[in-house]
Amino acid sequence: MHHNAQHSSHSHIAVEPWGIRESSFDSAQAALHETLFCLGNGQIGVRGAQEEGELWAGTMQNDVFINGFYESEPIVYPEAAYGFAHTNQFIVRVPNVTGMTFSIDGIPFDANLGRISDYSRQLDFQTGVLTRSFVWTSPSGQKIRILSERLVSFTHMSIVAVRYALTPLNFTGDISITSSITNLPRALMAGDDPRVGASLGGSLDYIAFESSEDFAAFTHGTHHSDLKVVSSVTHDQTPTRLAHDEQQTNVVFAKIAEANQAISVVKFGAYITSQTVDSDDMTRVAKHSLDTAKTIGFDGLVAEQEAYLNEFWLNANVEIGGDDSLQQGMRFGQFHLLQSAGRDGKTNIAAKGVTGAGYDGHYFWDTEIYVLPFFLHTRPDIARRLLEYRASTLDAARARAREMSHTKGALYPWRTITGPECSSYFPAGTAQYHINADIAYAVRQYNDVTDDRSFLLEHGAEMVFETTRIWPALGRFDEQGQFGIYTVTGPDEYTALVNNNLFTNAMARHHLQYAVNLVAWLSKDHPEKLHELRTKIDLTSEEIAIWQDAAAHMKMPFDAKRGIHAQDDAFFEKPLWDFANTPRDKYPLLLNFHPLVIYRHQVCKQPDVVLALLLLGHEFSVEQKKRNYDYYEAITTHDSSLSSCIFSIMAAEVGYTDKAYDYFMQTARLDVDNLHHNTQHGVHAAALAGSWMSVVYGFAGLRTFGKQVKFSPFLPKQWTHYQFNVRIKNCLLQVRIDKSEATYRLLEGATLDIEHKGMPVQITAAQDTVVRI
Ligand code: BGC
Repeated sequence: MHHNAQHSSHSHIAVEPWGIRESSFDSAQAALHETLFCLGNGQIGVRGAQEEGELWAGTMQNDVFINGFYESEPIVYPEAAYGFAHTNQFIVRVPNVTGMTFSIDGIPFDANLGRISDYSRQLDFQTGVLTRSFVWTSPSGQKIRILSERLVSFTHMSIVAVRYALTPLNFTGDISITSSITNLPRALMAGDDPRVGASLGGSLDYIAFESSEDFAAFTHGTHHSDLKVVSSVTHDQTPTRLAHDEQQTNVVFAKIAEANQAISVVKFGAYITSQTVDSDDMTRVAKHSLDTAKTIGFDGLVAEQEAYLNEFWLNANVEIGGDDSLQQGMRFGQFHLLQSAGRDGKTNIAAKGVTGAGYDGHYFWDTEIYVLPFFLHTRPDIARRLLEYRASTLDAARARAREMSHTKGALYPWRTITGPECSSYFPAGTAQYHINADIAYAVRQYNDVTDDRSFLLEHGAEMVFETTRIWPALGRFDEQGQFGIYTVTGPDEYTALVNNNLFTNAMARHHLQYAVNLVAWLSKDHPEKLHELRTKIDLTSEEIAIWQDAAAHMKMPFDAKRGIHAQDDAFFEKPLWDFANTPRDKYPLLLNFHPLVIYRHQVCKQPDVVLALLLLGHEFSVEQKKRNYDYYEAITTHDSSLSSCIFSIMAAEVGYTDKAYDYFMQTARLDVDNLHHNTQHGVHAAALAGSWMSVVYGFAGLRTFGKQVKFSPFLPKQWTHYQFNVRIKNCLLQVRIDKSEATYRLLEGATLDIEHKGMPVQITAAQDTVVRI
């Protein structure tokens, strides 16, 4: 079933290997391009609105977000019940420090008056700089070139910088450049699309304004969540004047400009929040950060940015030979992932990264199951930080478990910012208990791929034990001695509150078994740590025996007649969805049918059984995978952007190479081509990472489990070759796939044992290993 690719409103992005470029301004695309041209560093996200903001028609969210900076409000249920999530947290926009505009002889710039020509804007993935250039002809005929460059520093996490240069082309006159900090009032988004988020933007209260000759800073605060943010600026020169009210400050530079001579202002902005710095100290820290940035200078920041990205691409680059547009899609995704992932151990990666308020800025299982592999194999330090975030919210997960009537253990929330459950729709929220198993899976995967045991000892083992404790409480051993798990929802959100969801049971089995293995490992290698943990969380041998038992006897629903796994106990009793009579405009189904209507049918939004076949691939035969794939593919709508990538990977594994390619086409440019029609609300972080997986897990067939590293590559016939680097067990491995051979090269590390299409191969640093595919 393919529906999403139809009638997409394409962005006007030129195909380039290392960036995105627009060569005209189109107000109808402005909101979408704000997302695509967004800059970020994992902490700050500056949407790609124009420097002059609303002076350009179509500007939708001229917003800046700080990952994890949120407002909260009570969730009001007309019909409430015990244990419902009671407080929502949602990301709020913070004041925008990037605004710049100008006037000529007192007449302000307005993009809607006069004429814009020679416009181009480019986001360069190698420099991390957004550059825009155009000529404005004012209504009275003055021509002026505007060149602006912008960055959000990867090396100074609180810093953004803008260089704004103006060149009069046919006049000499008075030009004043205005640099602003603006706090916009809250804009509410109405509508019933759950993907948009409850409210766009924020409603921060003014607290203070402070300025000196070369410094201006607002302090604003949230109403309920008790957070403060300082938004501050300085410039490379002393301003002529400065004015402010509670929402905006304008810093003005009055200049006399000669024809054909550029005048410029460089602006440095810094954001400091009370989440990281003591409230009383925030303004001082902001000033200090700005002083540092000013000393480095704009060119210095660009040089640092380039060096940082150079290092990133050395590790992460994926090269696709023979398709420039897919090449662009891949790098766009990798770049945005790098921009989106929190890396301070206290923040994570939101469903929309730092590019928008969609899904309220919440963190989901998307992190562990979709995004983590990308970082594991390219920036394992960031992967660890993402897991540390979960460790930092373990207490909240314990509290939630108590609320959910578990006397022991921890239950992670379906969606959250700082830890509490924020899902107000429990059938597709809290009921997705698989989140616990997903996190344990990620801990295990981190451990297997990096060989870094310190995370397990510091946090991981405790997280795995606490979370696995929930499984025995969700089910029982039946008369045949099989362990069943009741009333849960799997990843497929078109089916809810079922017994023995195959994905959940399979992942719970892995989780329970992993916990048992960890106990054994600790008792052998780190007995004092095990002792400490046993005491801390009151872990008993009886409990561990139950984990072992439940894992050994986990029920895995199987339909003998069809010869495939059932998504849950009752799945095959339901009628099939009437696909033949569902017109295209009724997709996605979630916007056109009540959940109950959908739940009552065999229809999937996204992979469920098929995802289990990938994550726990060693537990299923190829034949089983193929049969399951065939059945579930036919009933999956891919209404979620988390779907196509997994189908691409599994199609590759079962030998459907054309399908693998088709699904890859649905994911590799999902945001650049706005295939889901909602990229204006932010990028789809899971799908971006899923595209990376489609190449590395799909076409190249990488699987890591325990000590095993397996590849099973093929070359899509549309390509001449592809190549990528992956970090595995302290090695950096370059993999290149050509028509008939694969070349493995160790860029770091001495030796690495892999399996190539089932054949053991030892890769050594001394020479390339070339094998037939
Ligand atoms: C998907 C979930 C996902 C969420 C956030 C939903 O549409 O069904 O699996 O976690 O979006 O990306």
